[in-house]
Amino acid sequence: MKTCQALPALQQCAASIPHLRDLFQGQPGRGQALQLQGAGITLDYSKQRVSTEVLELLVQLAQQSGLEAERERLFAGEAVNRTEKRAAWHTALRVPANRQSPSQACVEEQLQRMSRLVDRIQSGVWRGFSGKRITDVVNLGVGGSDLGPLMVTHGLREYANAAAQGLRVHFASTIDGSQLFDLLDHLNPETSLFIISSKSFSTIDTLSNADTVRSWLSSHCEDEALMLRCHFIGVSAARDRMTVWGLPQDNQLHFWDWVGGRFSLWSVIGLPIALALGMSAFRQLLSGAHAMDEHFRTAPLSQNLPVMLALLGVWNVNFLDIRAHAILPYDGRLKYFPSYLEQLEMESNGKSVDQQGRALDYSTCPVLWGEIGANAQHAFYQLLHQGTQSVASDFILAACRYDAPGHYAHQEPLRAQHQLNIANCLAQSRVLAFGDAAVESENSPWQRYPGNQPSSTLLLKRLDPVSLGALIAAYEHKVFVQAVIWNINPFDQWGVELGKQVALQLQPLLRQPGSSAMHELDDSTRTLALRIQQQQAC
Ligand code: F6P
Repeated sequence: MKTCQALPALQQCAASIPHLRDLFQGQPGRGQALQLQGAGITLDYSKQRVSTEVLELLVQLAQQSGLEAERERLFAGEAVNRTEKRAAWHTALRVPANRQSPSQACVEEQLQRMSRLVDRIQSGVWRGFSGKRITDVVNLGVGGSDLGPLMVTHGLREYANAAAQGLRVHFASTIDGSQLFDLLDHLNPETSLFIISSKSFSTIDTLSNADTVRSWLSSHCEDEALMLRCHFIGVSAARDRMTVWGLPQDNQLHFWDWVGGRFSLWSVIGLPIALALGMSAFRQLLSGAHAMDEHFRTAPLSQNLPVMLALLGVWNVNFLDIRAHAILPYDGRLKYFPSYLEQLEMESNGKSVDQQGRALDYSTCPVLWGEIGANAQHAFYQLLHQGTQSVASDFILAACRYDAPGHYAHQEPLRAQHQLNIANCLAQSRVLAFGDAAVESENSPWQRYPGNQPSSTLLLKRLDPVSLGALIAAYEHKVFVQAVIWNINPFDQWGVELGKQVALQLQPLLRQPGSSAMHELDDSTRTLALRIQQQQAC
């Protein structure tokens, strides 16, 4: 980033960029001009604090950062994850079967295996230990082995196929076992199936939940081999570990180390999605992502949706010093989309060392969080409107409700609510941009809205498997483009590792009150641990 020629000019532009009100006044037709389409999604970025000159310079910045060459390496399956010396080839997971290269054939092979499992479970051929059909499936996983399947399954549940509709799919991720406990409380061991989803098959959160389920099932079924065969499926890149845990070969689905955990929902990690919605919906999700891949690979940078999302983010962070980014889906079905993006963006680009190992002297990923937009209006929007922080926002909206004949969204009250929701979405981005000029009020200082908070609006025709696939892929590529510009590796997450190791060291100490090893702890942690031990003793 340091050596790019576009940088000084961008810095100059940032110093004098006008208020959004003035940008609109000075550019008639800005709404149309600053809008683009990619894979069926419309991106309106007219309410970003950019001029035509800034946009041209940002595109130059991308070119000067070597984006086009790095994008080729990504799609060719080269080792773009340099610190771990492997590819990040999630795009290969969504290449249509008839266009897969020989090195991608393994993808279709695993999808076929997954499809056969889905058929057997949905049709009732797969039975529990006592011969009853499966009614409930629980995904045990965390991070990328949980958030993507959870978000998609929840977001698209209206699209469940007839075969899938009777099957309930649940998710348990927390290491404290609380989510699992709530589920086991009402699940029937004879009709429940558990998916152990873990790329590494070594994540303690997931394995401890799996062990708890195993002992719960053992108390109902004495034949351990039968219990394992009828009630567990493993999904992992670590075949040996699945086998050591006791999973029969036929109950294992595999993927590869070149699929990053937070990019893995397209692989067999998507099994809960396929079980909840059917294989056809899962394939449509893949096709939507592939359409976005093709758009990202071929569209000119200035008309490229993920590239534009990335460049606007870089502009906000590095030039306008806006370090917070809100994700605001105006759609209750996208409830888990913000948490999904929190991992995708912050685990990928929360880095402070460049590809060559040097400390950075510029900012990378902003703090990103979000909530269903209309609910957030009654929670944190006050800060967006009148706080002291500049915050960039992404509004996400589907123009049409799901409109299958007979669907509940056909009913008039829900149609009216949908329009109300759209009005709220448009109103909020408008007030954030223009402040009280938008409503022409003459209010007291406490009632004034300064405006000038930048936002983009991503508009889908409707929220369906194809469009959600495209939306997720757009954000994946956004993350990649930003990483190229920031010269960081978005595909590793070393920072998460130390916390895991320290937790494992602390765990035995908590069981030994007064242990001499306690003295090696820092004073705060030791005092807290002692207090916990005291409280547990009474
Ligand atoms: O939190 C770190 C992390 O490695 C994530 O990147 C990953 O998605 C998650 O843990 C779960 O990992 P696994 O799928 O190997 O259990």
